[in-house]
Amino acid sequence: MFDFAGKKAFITGGTRGIGLAIATKMARAGADVALNYLRNKKAAEEAVAKIKAISGKEPLLLKGNVAKDEDIDEMFKVLRDKWGGISFLVSNAASGVLKPSKELTYHHWQWTMDINAYALLALSRSAVPMMKGNGRIVAVSSLGATHAFNNYAAVGSSKAALESLVRHLCVEYAEHGINVNAVSASVVDTEALTHFPNRDTMLNDSLVWTPAKKLVEPDDVADGVMILCSDLTRMVHGHTFIIDGGLSIKLPG
Ligand SMILES: NC(=O)c1ccc[n+]([C@@H]2O[C@H](COP(=O)([O-])OP(=O)(O)OC[C@H]3O[C@@H](n4cnc5c(N)ncnc54)[C@H](OP(=O)(O)O)[C@@H]3O)[C@@H](O)[C@H]2O)c1
Repeated sequence: MFDFAGKKAFITGGTRGIGLAIATKMARAGADVALNYLRNKKAAEEAVAKIKAISGKEPLLLKGNVAKDEDIDEMFKVLRDKWGGISFLVSNAASGVLKPSKELTYHHWQWTMDINAYALLALSRSAVPMMKGNGRIVAVSSLGATHAFNNYAAVGSSKAALESLVRHLCVEYAEHGINVNAVSASVVDTEALTHFPNRDTMLNDSLVWTPAKKLVEPDDVADGVMILCSDLTRMVHGHTFIIDGGLSIKLPG
């Protein structure tokens, strides 16, 4: 469906879950792929092998913390040396402290904000000059940006900041030939969910309340990213594309 031959895609958190689904689709469409991760080397190596098997090309593997300027500088140095330019930046890596708000400290808040919101600012700063007047930036957000969920105060706030940043970046970069957008998903059953104290309830409730009567899968989110990187959306700027099977329309009041 998409022909991204000759394109170069950098996906943060591209070694597991939704990020890996995005990287896989990018590679299938012919793009060169760079995968970032932070800690899980085994998953990273498996992701590299998977992408290589699909495309016949070795993806770049970039270890680094997207919340740290020095790590971002290091990763972009490699991208500049190996690729010269990039076409797509997918800011997907995320983390965050899942607790009721009365238990959240300044440190929890800052940690979550830095990884989930500041990272897009820092990554874009480095990516835009490498896009040379033609590129796409897509951030991965969640319904917690606009809706309240148990234990999600810090992460939801960081995703709200992320979506606002998408709108501000889009205004700055549109005239430079760069589209900045977001995809926002409801619950997706990845490893991230094992960190939620209320995982089972979240999955059950999502299934009950989603009009489409099935959970969103990593590939559904990846399809949204592919659309936002394609020529079909060349006039789409600053948009948050919701991928939730209709859940946000039907959430209980
Ligand atoms: N799962 C859901 O229900 C859901 C719903 C809506 C939106 N989302 C969003 O979708 C995105 C991906 O979520 P997921 O569920 O696929 O997550 P996941 O399975 O936990 O994977 C997270 C990925 O991000 C990397 N990562 C984490 N912190 C990092 C950091 N500080 N610097 C660099 N890389 C880092 C991880 O690397 P390591 O393997 O090295 O740890 C891993 O590759 C996130 O933005 C998340 O908020 C998820």
